[in-house]
Amino acid sequence: MLGLGAGQVGAEALPEAEAERLLHRALDLGITLIDTARGYGLSEERVGRYLASRRDEFVLSTKGGYGVEGVGDWTPGSIRLGIERALRVMRTDRIDIFHLHSCPPDTLRRDDLLAELDRARDAGLIRVAAYSGENEALAWAAESGRFGSIQTSVNLTDQWSLHHVLPGAAARGLGVIAKRPIANAAWQFSKRPVGQYAEVYWERLQTLRLDPGDLDWNEFALRFSAFAPGVSSAIVGTARVENLERNVAVVEKGPLPAELLRQIEAAWAEHGQGWGGEV
Ligand SMILES: NC(=O)c1ccc[n+]([C@@H]2O[C@H](COP(=O)([O-])OP(=O)(O)OC[C@H]3O[C@@H](n4cnc5c(N)ncnc54)[C@H](OP(=O)(O)O)[C@@H]3O)[C@@H](O)[C@H]2O)c1
Repeated sequence: MLGLGAGQVGAEALPEAEAERLLHRALDLGITLIDTARGYGLSEERVGRYLASRRDEFVLSTKGGYGVEGVGDWTPGSIRLGIERALRVMRTDRIDIFHLHSCPPDTLRRDDLLAELDRARDAGLIRVAAYSGENEALAWAAESGRFGSIQTSVNLTDQWSLHHVLPGAAARGLGVIAKRPIANAAWQFSKRPVGQYAEVYWERLQTLRLDPGDLDWNEFALRFSAFAPGVSSAIVGTARVENLERNVAVVEKGPLPAELLRQIEAAWAEHGQGWGGEV
């Protein structure tokens, strides 16, 4: 299932009219999950401004634990007031999935924070408490029994969680949101994108030497992550309606053919064993 990663929707450089058009087009195309966060600029605000009247049409996922005026980050107050703030900004009475956003393992395990999430869930402010992160922290979150969903990087170049966490998460019935599902379109860079988010993925692609055959790279990448075992939703991030439409059409084609999956598996077995998940 395809979701919309609304990180790009938060960019100040994106005109309001385009943000509005993109968000509505996502729902019109049948997308039913939108993922945002406290840290994504204007994203939460725009989701509220443009989609409040269509709130029943989508699952709303956001993240927090930081960025609340007057309280320290990763305190019970930052969870409680952060959820209240997010509800206000997004003009809604409930958040479907609320993630602790990439906090380190020792923060994640704190009872005072977990208890605050439980209270918010019991009060109906959030429906599912979730964790977004990678590696050791993600593995703990998935096994802890304290979370109903996780968000983690899953793509051609980032398969740590796919191999180490998702099988167990699926068996326990956890929701799994695959972030960075097309590896930040790293193949688009003709040379190393130094200092950019896609840099590690670009480097891994050089090593994996995958061949998408007749498919273009976007289709190759997205049909892999959207149908990876255990993934509930792959949230491609985009600020462009034409890319959104393209992604919907690609996912409608279903999983990759078996020979491409075998190629990806063999390349990962040869090169990917030491590669951790990238936040
Ligand atoms: N929890 C976390 O810490 C965390 C971290 C990263 C991301 N996320 C979430 O995951 C979402 C997705 O991650 P991401 O945006 O980092 O990575 P991504 O979805 O793998 O890649 C996004 C990039 O791909 C491009 N793109 C999208 N569709 C395309 C298409 N059809 N053809 C060519 N290029 C295309 C986008 O550019 P255009 O805008 O030009 O389309 C954008 O540069 C985010 O929006 C956010 O919701 C969460």
